Amino acid sequence: MPDKSKIFFLLVIFLVIVTSPFIYNMVRTPAGVVVKLNTPVIDNMTVKQCILPKEQMIHDHMKILNSWRDDVVRGNHREFGKIDGVMYEKSLQLTCLHCHSNKSEFCDRCHTYASVSVYCWDCHVAQKENKL
Ligand code: HEC
Ligand code: HEC
Ligand code: HEC
Repeated sequence: MPDKSKIFFLLVIFLVIVTSPFIYNMVRTPAGVVVKLNTPVIDNMTVKQCILPKEQMIHDHMKILNSWRDDVVRGNHREFGKIDGVMYEKSLQLTCLHCHSNKSEFCDRCHTYASVSVYCWDCHVAQKENKL
């Protein structure tokens, strides 16, 4: 191999190595973080399920919340539907935090791990948590 192409080849390898953590970060689910799922409501569910399949929740919960907000605030459409026989509305507090009442060990823990700052709590209040 002539020197020039050798250097080019090494450069490409170098770039791949240097950028890989970033590429990895973009596709990664924050699977390394341990979130606590158990809450009184979830423990009492017959079928332990979220509003959508888990994988979809991990990737898309922010989009779901945004579309809920638009539905409620712009369309005044609050009804979500039944999960495990219980009727829910499209609400951050009344729905997400009804089941995930352990916000600090669930939402916050993962967001801290993923370095995401969520400004929703400036206005939306989380109920005082009951420590289990
Ligand atoms: C500046 C204050 C403010 C911030 C910040 C804010 N919201 Fe809201 N949000 C409101 C208000 C006011 C309503 C209307 C409440 C109603 O009609 O029930 C609302 C309604 C909603 C609703 C539907 C009703 C409900 O009970 O939840 C959702 C979902 C929602 N917001 C999600 C979010 C999310 C997600 C974030 C962060 C990304 C966020 N909001 C940040 C003020 C705020
Ligand atoms: C009826 C109860 C219930 C409601 C309402 C609910 N969840 Fe869940 N959620 C669960 C359960 C149970 C799981 C675990 C599902 C599983 O393991 O398949 C879960 C899983 C998740 C996960 C994946 C966690 C992980 O890494 O394993 C996320 C993220 C999540 N929920 C966010 C939300 C958000 C955001 C909302 C509101 C838009 C919400 N959930 C509403 C019960 C609920
Ligand atoms: C398994 C990890 C995990 C859990 C659990 C989790 N989140 Fe998230 N959340 C994320 C990640 C990662 C992002 C950033 C995604 C992005 O920017 O594409 C995020 C982003 C968000 C955003 C958008 C923030 C913004 O300003 O754009 C909202 C709102 C949100 N999460 C709400 C919640 C709520 C409410 C819960 C608990 C009911 C929750 N999340 C639980 C990982 C999680």
